[in-house]
Amino acid sequence: MIVLGLETSCDETAAALVDGDRNILAEVVLSQFEEHRPYGGVVPEIAARGHLDHIDRLTAEVMKRARLPFDAIDGVAATTGPGLIGGVIVGVMTAKAIAAVHRKPFLAVNHLEGHALTARLTDDVAFPYLLLLVSGGHCQILAVEGVGRYRRLGTTIDDAAGEAFDKVAKMLGLGYPGGPAVQAAAEAGDPARFPFPRPMKGRPGCDFSFSGLKTSVRQMVEKLPPGPLAEQDKADLAAGFQAAVVESIADRVKRALREFRGSAFVVAGGVAANSALRARLTALSAEAGLPFIAPPLRLCTDNAAMIAWAGLEHLRLGRTDPLDTRPRPRWPL
Ligand code: KG4
Ligand code: ZN
Repeated sequence: MIVLGLETSCDETAAALVDGDRNILAEVVLSQFEEHRPYGGVVPEIAARGHLDHIDRLTAEVMKRARLPFDAIDGVAATTGPGLIGGVIVGVMTAKAIAAVHRKPFLAVNHLEGHALTARLTDDVAFPYLLLLVSGGHCQILAVEGVGRYRRLGTTIDDAAGEAFDKVAKMLGLGYPGGPAVQAAAEAGDPARFPFPRPMKGRPGCDFSFSGLKTSVRQMVEKLPPGPLAEQDKADLAAGFQAAVVESIADRVKRALREFRGSAFVVAGGVAANSALRARLTALSAEAGLPFIAPPLRLCTDNAAMIAWAGLEHLRLGRTDPLDTRPRPRWPL
């Protein structure tokens, strides 16, 4: 079984082919960082036009790399939400057109489900498992009980973790995208110099909150001498902020592990690329005696292999979607 997947819900245009033996036959990801950098964040209209400019070429490219005609595929999957609607429409319409012309089933994939099931593409993890999904738009802990069976144990009550990284990067003048920039700056910093709060630590439940932490970074910056920040100040602020995020997430995960264990602890989403967070979560899993599964970095950030794979999981269960399925800007798992 071979599925073509398309991802266009944010600022990555991506296409990939995967098969039922968990092979990625071909994949391409085109990031639009440069187009959005002058604005310090993703501009939806620019993103949608970028997807439109590139999606046909990237789709043709993966078919060529895998040396496959469209007739050889068994289904076409596209991120159908949640995300920036202009971009989602581009991917969905492209997938539907291919599906209609070649008489293949269309598979409507929830972007979050793509992240949630990536571990089964990379590591053959059995259901059920505990998932920490930390990205630019989402921050959730889920019990993944089966395909389409996701039970939310916790979510953010304000900002997502990646969003907090991006906003703090902007405050510190570290540029965009913020997560990798904060991580790099933090390497030369003293995490103990600024006493940042550990949001939600010790509170009941598994919810997250990062907005107060973001505010305390701003207040610290305002207490420093006016003018551009010194490099050491930036490094110490970045290190302090990152340490607070990691400790807050670790506290929430510890609680979730008390409620639900499953066969493994899996992390997914762009913030899972953060090495300080990975190190902390690796230690936590070891303490809990659970295997820790973190997909390779390129499959943690947005990509189409995860969408193709989620589509394949649906197809294997006989779940396909009609061609009049509507793209959804909001679509909780
Ligand atoms: O999953 P993703 O590629 O897109 C969404 O679906 O949101 O996640 C992007 C987010 C951005 O907020 C980015 O700043 C963050 O992941 N990110 C990181 C790192 N690499 C990417 N955050 C912290 N440390 C990193 N190394
Ligand atoms: Zn994502």
